[in-house]
Amino acid sequence: MLQAFNPANRDIRVYIDGELLHRDQARVSVFDSSVQGGDAVWEGLRVYDGRVFSLDAHLDRLFDSAHAMWFQGIPARGEVTEAIRQTLVANDMRDDVHIRLTLTRGKKITSGMDPRLNQAGCTLIVLAEHKPPVYPESITLATSSVRRNSPMSVDSKIHHNNLINNILAKIEANQAGADAGLMLDKDGFVSEANGVNVFCIRRGKVRTPYADYCLPGITRATVLDICGELSIHHAEVRISVSEFYTADEVFTTGTMGELTRVREIDGRQIVNKHDISVLEQIQDRFRALTRSGGTKLV
Ligand SMILES: Cc1ncc(COP(=O)(O)O)c(C=O)c1O
Repeated sequence: MLQAFNPANRDIRVYIDGELLHRDQARVSVFDSSVQGGDAVWEGLRVYDGRVFSLDAHLDRLFDSAHAMWFQGIPARGEVTEAIRQTLVANDMRDDVHIRLTLTRGKKITSGMDPRLNQAGCTLIVLAEHKPPVYPESITLATSSVRRNSPMSVDSKIHHNNLINNILAKIEANQAGADAGLMLDKDGFVSEANGVNVFCIRRGKVRTPYADYCLPGITRATVLDICGELSIHHAEVRISVSEFYTADEVFTTGTMGELTRVREIDGRQIVNKHDISVLEQIQDRFRALTRSGGTKLV
């Protein structure tokens, strides 16, 4: 699955540090930490009828990530929210919109790794695009040889821009002809796919890997809440790839693609041995939440 250029995004305006610039003029400095070290944190947000879904949870994670990374000169929550609003207004965007919200450590006074060289505060970027959920009806996964980071290296609780291991997993998936790479932890248990969390359902019970190695996704948390609300048995577990192969249903979660069925992993078809689809129940409830929930910004 390869995303295509959407002509509706040809002349979008991008917010960078208080300015709204045409996409061709929107640039960060060569001294910016994101250029020099991928030293930034980010969030993907989705807008439904002028409402940003789970805005508070996304901003909480952004500020937590920035704090954990010792960013200085972090913009206030109200400033970030206002930047998102201004970007949506400037682009006349209300629905089927995806926002990539990035906060970098900012500009350095000279090249170097030391965060004390960043003396201008953070750089805030709001990139909103017309983008309906990107995944097709169902997708395929291929297990990757690239492991997800453990807290021993880069803690997955920090939603940072150092995405190289996930990009390498995506390259492997492309080579294997699959839509996404299934990434394991250091012991070989399932962690997540390269850009989305993963779930499986066996005999009506919903399971997802512990968030030890995977990003604790906000859509993932919403799905766990929905299971609680619908009295569907659910748990975070340590789980192997074979258990995913033999599950009744497998799906991924993420802001970009919402909830997407996985039909095949490593050439093994995912076969539902029961008459009902628990995934469809969860998807129905998720759609209902996106129709009514979220923070109204435009
Ligand atoms: C590695 C990774 N996993 C999972 C997700 C899904 O997280 P969320 O549901 O918060 O969009 C993302 C989204 O940014 C991601 O980058």
